[in-house]
Amino acid sequence: MSSDRRTFAIISHPDAGKTTLTEKLLLAGGAIHLAGEVRARGANRRARSDWMKIEQQRGISVTSSVMTFVRDGLTFNLLDTPGHEDFSEDTYRTLTAVDSAVMVIDAARGIEAQTRKLFEVCRLRSVPIITFINKVDREGLSPFALLDEIADKLALDVTPMNWPVGMGGTYEGLFDFGRSALFRPEQPPEQVDGLGDARLDGLVEGAQLLRDEAELALGGYGGFDEQAYRAGDQTPVFFGSALREYGVEALIDAIAAYAPPPRSQPAAPRPVLPEDPKVSGFIFKVQANMNPAHRDRIAFLRVCSGRFKRGMKLRQVQTGKTIAINSPIFFFAQDRELAETALPGDIIGIPNHGVLRVGDTLTEGETLTFTGIPNFAPEILRRVRLLDPTKTKQLRTALTDMAEEGVTQLFKPLIGSQWIVGVVGQLQLEVLISRLSAEYGVPAEFEPAPFDTARWISAEDPADLKAFMAGRGSAMAEDRDGAPVFLARDQWEVNYVAERAPEIRFSATRERA
Ligand code: G4P
Repeated sequence: MSSDRRTFAIISHPDAGKTTLTEKLLLAGGAIHLAGEVRARGANRRARSDWMKIEQQRGISVTSSVMTFVRDGLTFNLLDTPGHEDFSEDTYRTLTAVDSAVMVIDAARGIEAQTRKLFEVCRLRSVPIITFINKVDREGLSPFALLDEIADKLALDVTPMNWPVGMGGTYEGLFDFGRSALFRPEQPPEQVDGLGDARLDGLVEGAQLLRDEAELALGGYGGFDEQAYRAGDQTPVFFGSALREYGVEALIDAIAAYAPPPRSQPAAPRPVLPEDPKVSGFIFKVQANMNPAHRDRIAFLRVCSGRFKRGMKLRQVQTGKTIAINSPIFFFAQDRELAETALPGDIIGIPNHGVLRVGDTLTEGETLTFTGIPNFAPEILRRVRLLDPTKTKQLRTALTDMAEEGVTQLFKPLIGSQWIVGVVGQLQLEVLISRLSAEYGVPAEFEPAPFDTARWISAEDPADLKAFMAGRGSAMAEDRDGAPVFLARDQWEVNYVAERAPEIRFSATRERA
């Protein structure tokens, strides 16, 4: 039986229109009725101070981490990826939980830095991508220039699925190749008999230009090849405008028709197929203090196989503990619902008190671990200085909580007592300080640490590891799991030390074993 789940994310550079498109998708899917809901959030996000306010209010950002809507008998799970580049680690892990992605590109700007980075993550996991070239209602680059740029910069085959009749001031509509239909603003679609149909001349002024361009495009780029798309080698490209709702229906239809249902997931010792009868899944995100009044925490589980039922007892493979999942939650755009059953591709929120962590595997008992959900070596390390010395315990709780969310990493130096926090980007530090005081009542400051990067270390022979660690006390620390970590001033020092200690493996990422 083929699945009716479509679990996907939208990737884009800030300002390309991800928030607007999300909102229109949810509107089209009947998931929200109030325009403006998602919008306000996008605008808030861009401004640092507002973003922090949102972060403190929490409720909004969490209910929208996953948005589920049902349309034409299909269940769409749209996973939110944080837009700011400082949160690329979180984004990376979110992309491990999707089966496909929509890449939004601003027609005036083409491929931008963040789009490219996110694309690379998708490529790493062969996540298939549908492209939406947004803002055709404004002047932009020519459709050919845009298609060529995607092909060249991303080394991806492109195939246009529709074509804009003019752009910006000359925009008249979109011609849909598959349907052989013209879509004009505020007009019903017009089905024609191919591009040669003389009726087109009566419908749009740019009919002849459309014919010329479309002929060139159809000849120059290959046609849509579902297999190539699913393998991540070809991207079907839709032109449109999220704001004006041009081409949005066509995009949803394409996700419904072509985006893959839940795929097999990499795991050790064997990959997991969605058809496997037993339930399994992994935690890709943990969000704490959604409601600062209670210290609740939601772990987001991507169901990978089996048929999950509420009340099931699942084994947390990393600890061997068994957990009864009694109140799993589904996230609809504005509501939460108790999840009675969940199928592969679904995302359920599991309230817990810090037991579940990012990277955890849950199964019905089998010893299995999903792979490729790493922690990344931090690029900024800071010592935490407590401004109120009576709050040592609270500080520890707060830092542990946030490390469990995967927002920051926490290192305990083998010598000395001050915790060191590690983050991938500067903005995370500001969020951390703000949350320490807002959510935990712990006033704190950061002090520069004599280190700025970290590597997890290991060795074939435990004696080698011990000798290495003994030789450099102050640069040694443990992460939260007690795994040994080498703290270094910079990449240069890592290289220098690594060259002289060939028996030690230095790793910039770590997966929970
Ligand atoms: P993001 O989440 O990717 O950061 O982008 P977002 O949707 O917030 O959109 C960024 C800006 O681009 C917004 O304008 C939005 O209105 C505009 N936009 C999105 N889609 C389209 C489109 O199809 N056509 C045009 N012309 N503009 C579009 P803003 O001025 O930054 O915000 P606002 O003042 O409109 O709220």
